[in-house]
Amino acid sequence: MKEIDEILLEVKEKLKASLPLEELIQLRNAYLLKKGKLQLLMGKMKDLSIEERKSFGKEINDAKAALEALFEEKIKEKEAQKLNEMLENEKVDITLPGVSHFSGYQNPFFKVQREIEEIFIGMGYEVANGPEVDKDHYVFELLNIPKNHPARDMQDTLYIDEETLLRSHTSAVQAHVMQNSNGKPIKIICPGKTYRRDDDDMTHSHQFAQVEGLVIDKNINLGNLKSTLELFAQKMFSKDAKVRFRSSFFPFTEPSVEVDVSCFNCHGRGCPICKGSGWIEILGAGMVNPNVLRMNGYDPDVYSGFAFGIGIERVAMLRYGINDIRKFYQNDIRFLSDFNKKVED
Ligand code: DAH
Repeated sequence: MKEIDEILLEVKEKLKASLPLEELIQLRNAYLLKKGKLQLLMGKMKDLSIEERKSFGKEINDAKAALEALFEEKIKEKEAQKLNEMLENEKVDITLPGVSHFSGYQNPFFKVQREIEEIFIGMGYEVANGPEVDKDHYVFELLNIPKNHPARDMQDTLYIDEETLLRSHTSAVQAHVMQNSNGKPIKIICPGKTYRRDDDDMTHSHQFAQVEGLVIDKNINLGNLKSTLELFAQKMFSKDAKVRFRSSFFPFTEPSVEVDVSCFNCHGRGCPICKGSGWIEILGAGMVNPNVLRMNGYDPDVYSGFAFGIGIERVAMLRYGINDIRKFYQNDIRFLSDFNKKVED
């Protein structure tokens, strides 16, 4: 019995010191496991009388329970302390300013494309798509440009085979959309890449982009086209922008027009941007040629329509004073960051 008391005292003494969790567990095992000190005392049972055994066994069991309780309390304490330390050490201060990352810059090309899209979506247009690798049939034939028509010389086209080519204008999408619309009214724009066999220089690129517009319904007239384009110019260039039509020729429109916008820099007085004329040419447009309507399933006696083709780079260059079309494609970080600074100012 004395030994039991001694063991209890011994443990209490040892636990006074604040032991680390691992040592606590080792200590507990040393006293309480099968070959632990308390268990070894059990071995002495056999030397005792039956009466003595009873009270000795009870003492041992009580001592065991007491020790277990003691260890458990200490271990819990340590575990809680360890958890608190962990929480403290791994605490994240979400109010600290973040590490800033370099996130690149938006290319002005996409900024302008997005702006054009938004202007027309705001006027109720849907955005359509068509293939960049297309058939001669859609790019030319269905737009009233038959084989050997001199108008084919207006565009130097990149052919893949006799019938297949890289589209030289987004007007091809007009034919696709009309063919798929079963003679119903249409109001779409189609932004997209186009390709021509051009030598690249400051104003030419073998790959560039256009936004095609097409509206077909009953009673569509040239006035509708003009007011649409004027609203576009006012949103894109300047609130007081005006547009003027100059007569032109495209096989898919009749009449056809070149569209000028009043110079947003000098407001018509004349400056280097508008080369002194007060006007800047921005796009081609016209009333959809009755032949085109007919070939694509629309009765020109019932339906009429207008169409336009805007060069995205041209608009971006005018809008942001960019003087070289190649800059859009070179991904030169200096150009991109300069441009973004300009936009922020
Ligand atoms: N497709 C013409 C071009 O690439 C641009 C154009 C002119 C589109 C008149 C049209 C249009 O829809 O009506 O030069």
